[in-house]
Amino acid sequence: MRSFRSSSDYYNSIANAYDNMYEDIYWTIAKQQIKVTIEKHIFSMSGLSVIDIGGGTGYWSLWTLKKGAKVVFVEPAQRMIEQAKEKIRKEMGMDLREVPIEFINCPAEDLDFHLHLEEKFDVILLLGDVLSYVDNLGKTMENISRATKKGALVFGTVDNYLSYLKDVVIYGSWEDYSYLVNHRKLPIGSEYGTFEAGAFEPAEIENIFEDYGFKVIELSALSSMPSLESSIKYGKYFIFESEHLFFVAKKV
Ligand SMILES: C[S@@+](CC[C@H](N)C(=O)[O-])C[C@H]1O[C@@H](n2cnc3c(N)ncnc32)[C@H](O)[C@@H]1O
Repeated sequence: MRSFRSSSDYYNSIANAYDNMYEDIYWTIAKQQIKVTIEKHIFSMSGLSVIDIGGGTGYWSLWTLKKGAKVVFVEPAQRMIEQAKEKIRKEMGMDLREVPIEFINCPAEDLDFHLHLEEKFDVILLLGDVLSYVDNLGKTMENISRATKKGALVFGTVDNYLSYLKDVVIYGSWEDYSYLVNHRKLPIGSEYGTFEAGAFEPAEIENIFEDYGFKVIELSALSSMPSLESSIKYGKYFIFESEHLFFVAKKV
């Protein structure tokens, strides 16, 4: 199995297959749960400035554009951007120059070289475990914090350290366990290859955001049950077991 140096190299190589890989029941419920939660916190997206960090093939940018937001799309994998552009052009039914979206080909860590960040955005999207993939978490959080207005909302998911831990204890070797405990990372991926992803405990997410001027106002397991209703109802009780954590943070 091929092992990739970084997550963006991996995503670059699977860009054509990406959308089909996320159509199962788990991801269908996950997307619905995320939408219901965003709509609970934001009455109208119309005119809001959204930054979609690690925007991938553009699923969330498209969703917010359709709701009337202006979007900055940030993505280091060039082939993922190409997929996103094609999808947004097709679905919006217009030339991309007429769509209120700016595409930036860079990692979250380099955003300050490409954008004047100061308090620009109302909504920050870190969906699809982007914080698990960045090389420099501190620099990423610094950029996100600079870019957000007071009261701005961040919606994101990360890999859950406690689920990684459970997996290595049950299925892994002693080496896997030591590697995870020492590096807080594990190789993940698909039949197309692997890359290393970081994982976070629920309390770590709260502490990291607090360090950069945010308060985590909601923390839930993502898609923890086989229905949307039960995933929403019981999500907060499964944050110590679930594969992914879903958080909402507010800039204070
Ligand atoms: C699982 S995909 C999620 C895509 C999209 N947000 C979604 O939910 O469908 C993760 C994305 O993060 C991107 N990524 C990896 N490293 C990154 C970094 N340092 N900064 C920003 N994005 C990064 C990858 O290239 C990939 O497109």
